[in-house]
Amino acid sequence: ELADIGVLGLAVMGANLARNAARKGFGVAVYNRHGGRTDDLINEFGSEGRFTPSKTIADFVASIARPRPIIIMVKAGKPVDDVIEELIPHLDEGDIIIDGGNSLFTDTNRRFHYLTEKKLRFIGMGVSGGEEGALEGPSMMPGGTREAYARIEPIVTKMAAQVDGEPCCTYIGTEGSGHFVKMVHNGIEYADMQLITEAYDLFKTVYGLEAPAIADIFADWNEGELNSYLIEITAAVLRKVDDTGKPLVDSIVDEAEQKGTGRWTAQSALDLGIPLTSITEAVFARALSARRTERAAVEARFPHGDVAKRAPSAAEIDAIKDALYASKIVAYAQGFEQLQVAAQQYGWELKLGEISTIWRGGCIIRARFLNRIREAYASGTGGGNLLLQDYFADAVIKAEASWRKVVGLAVAEGIPVPAFASSLAYYDGLRRARGPANLLQGLRDYFGAHTYGRLDKPGKFHTRWSQDGSEVKTSD
Ligand code: 6PG
Repeated sequence: ELADIGVLGLAVMGANLARNAARKGFGVAVYNRHGGRTDDLINEFGSEGRFTPSKTIADFVASIARPRPIIIMVKAGKPVDDVIEELIPHLDEGDIIIDGGNSLFTDTNRRFHYLTEKKLRFIGMGVSGGEEGALEGPSMMPGGTREAYARIEPIVTKMAAQVDGEPCCTYIGTEGSGHFVKMVHNGIEYADMQLITEAYDLFKTVYGLEAPAIADIFADWNEGELNSYLIEITAAVLRKVDDTGKPLVDSIVDEAEQKGTGRWTAQSALDLGIPLTSITEAVFARALSARRTERAAVEARFPHGDVAKRAPSAAEIDAIKDALYASKIVAYAQGFEQLQVAAQQYGWELKLGEISTIWRGGCIIRARFLNRIREAYASGTGGGNLLLQDYFADAVIKAEASWRKVVGLAVAEGIPVPAFASSLAYYDGLRRARGPANLLQGLRDYFGAHTYGRLDKPGKFHTRWSQDGSEVKTSD
């Protein structure tokens, strides 16, 4: 009997996706370049379902029912192109290659068109949820043609996490839109984590709390509006004690690594002209953290005065929660704006309500809060800035005073809170009908005759700064 789906690449994500499909009752063909992994999978988990292992690509492809859906789970970049080239000679018209890795969306665009020309189909599918999600039910963001998606829909919607009876998987759009949406998901993931670390830093450095006490605070927050996977695991990581009997987190090197998706999100925002400040600050904060030797040297040159540490009051703890929540709303508002602008720019019909629906479960940023975003975008008010949706506007207004206080405290104590502070600056910048860029335009006109508009009359103008100082109209 032919398999329903193939999985190529059996490192932990691929192996877990294959097991997920098999556990849901699908026949799964499996292949890995180094056959050892295939053997391991079958030996350890072969009893979980109907697996068809193969030792060659030809046998692997031949073991799948046509038109063949083949999920490839290999490292993003060249390995994806290599695998596609290896598969092509064995495929038949209409077969579907599904890239489930964290590929750059422009690569997915290219591969989509390349395979379409060859009468093959390509789906770039963002998969979020880490190892556990891949096995138990991830959030999946497939992009490609609707017809190709219709072929895999019965399989992937069963593999995905389910929330309130709805699968965390839906058709995203054409070309690389699925990977674009996954990229923004990861950018938001970066911002969420940065905000969490800033709150942690304040508790630790300003208030002198130890990891277990901070764990209690996060566990408590997880019961309320901040309820989310990342807040939950923050409590778990902070609570963990290692062999020495001390909190593990105190022994972990404070250098953040990154594999690229957050950086791509920031780069895309620059390309699209979107003020994606919270996510971008999160990327920069990782870059700064990575300069550990330099930080030590600079600290020696600019030593800190001691912060007078005292336990935070309940109100002070709440204030940090409010600052985190308001900043988080800004990060999501920016991420969702990026989706809207990309949709316009690239001609994708991204449905924000559906995207927030499939982010409610399975993925790393899953959170109670996503229900509110879903309501906001499903309410028929169309797109627009999330900050203007009633629920979020009310939340930000409620949090505003604390948000300012916390950023002020951090600044006064010399503790960097780039994501808290830049989110607040975005909010303050956005809620001003008249900002200071009038002066900037004047400067541009002064040194470069770049012209400016006037509030009191239409058209573009230039002042002859270095001649007679008169103003001329340069266009209507
Ligand atoms: C997910 C995660 C996953 C991966 C990140 C890590 O949604 O399941 O985002 O894709 O853990 O890519 O990214 P960094 O290594 O850049 O932190």
